[in-house]
Amino acid sequence: MNPTEIPRPTTGERDLGTSGAARPFGVYVHVPFCRVRCGYCDFNTYTADELGEGATRATYADTAIREIVQAAERFGRRPVETVFFGGGTPTQLPSTDLVRILQAIDERLGLAEGVEVTTEANPDSVTPESLAVLRAGGFTRISFGVQSAVPHVLATLERTHDPANVPQAVRWAREAGFEQVSVDLIYGTPGESFDDWRRSLEQAIALGPDHVSAYALIVEEGTAFARKVRRGEVVMPDDDETADKYVLADEMLSAAGLGWYELSNWARDGSAQCRHNVLYWRSDDWLGIGPGAHSHVAGERWWNVKHPAAYAQRLVAGESPRHDGETIDAETAHVEQIMLETRLRSGLGLDTLSEAARASVPELVARDLATLEGDRLVLTRTGRLLADAVVRELVD
Ligand SMILES: C[S@@+](CC[C@H](N)C(=O)[O-])C[C@H]1O[C@@H](n2cnc3c(N)ncnc32)[C@H](O)[C@@H]1O
Ligand code: SF4
Repeated sequence: MNPTEIPRPTTGERDLGTSGAARPFGVYVHVPFCRVRCGYCDFNTYTADELGEGATRATYADTAIREIVQAAERFGRRPVETVFFGGGTPTQLPSTDLVRILQAIDERLGLAEGVEVTTEANPDSVTPESLAVLRAGGFTRISFGVQSAVPHVLATLERTHDPANVPQAVRWAREAGFEQVSVDLIYGTPGESFDDWRRSLEQAIALGPDHVSAYALIVEEGTAFARKVRRGEVVMPDDDETADKYVLADEMLSAAGLGWYELSNWARDGSAQCRHNVLYWRSDDWLGIGPGAHSHVAGERWWNVKHPAAYAQRLVAGESPRHDGETIDAETAHVEQIMLETRLRSGLGLDTLSEAARASVPELVARDLATLEGDRLVLTRTGRLLADAVVRELVD
């Protein structure tokens, strides 16, 4: 497409400035680079060897900034309340590049007062200097991929960091002045004992994080890890064991003053919740920047071409990186709202439910799967373990 033919927003692309302006608005920046690929991960990310010319780390910030400029020209300005740099490993880029991208978002779209700016990071991809540059450049929150404190579990996951370096990375982040430090954990790795998981939780809590995400390991089709599972080289734990580990996490994190606010996320208090993720869970509006990034604005969803080289080519040619999109119809939006809000501690408003679904609520309460807090349905711990089944009852 010739640059002069770039269409104005029609279907699938709304004006950021006027539509849904009352809804919170965030920007996600995808950084598709990792030093090595972990065998279990199917995110859109590449090592240096996998990427040819045209999509190098050195040119990435300029390419992403082109997309931000293009988006602002098409959609107009709208105050950005949260920015999230995810990956991949954003800290594989120089901090100065991450700050330049953030500055472009500020200049072109505008950062709101009190904006939350998060980056994901691997513990071995930061230094005191790189963290100081990020903090001075406006980043407020950092989320470290810790996963486990146990070397044999990290080895099965093919994680490369030395767990002994994690406290140091967290200390550096604090010294640099990060207001919010989060750690990501994974449970249910083959070979992980109950005591291994307890040790990971103890060590995560000892870091004094503001926020913890703990996800059960998912076997993603097409990954090296899935092939190992299929060949029987590693054996996934059964559902009961995984459920017991969830309960242990909830007990230990709660006892340490971290309360759940979403099924897999715990925070020190309301101010330590990840506002950007809450924005996703409430189906608010966000713009996705980067290869494969998804956007969701005013009932439209669209996504970019997936490969970094194709993404860069489009932008260098002055073309939109958009690959495809869809309008979210009322029925889909309704089902998504139930699926997402049921997972939140703030619960699901009963007025969201159909009459038939509302009739099933007393039974959910009687089976100790949920409680009623005013006119909101909130999952109990048992309900959280069976959240998918509860959602099925509420959408049928
Ligand atoms: C995609 S990574 C990006 C940040 C950084 N590269 C890292 O690994 O920490 C974000 C989180 O997703 C988790 N993740 C990726 N694949 C997963 C899977 N198959 N099951 C559960 N968690 C997964 C990672 O472990 C990590 O904590
Ligand atoms: S889990 Fe993180 S570090 Fe590992 S390949 Fe995925 S994005 Fe990269």
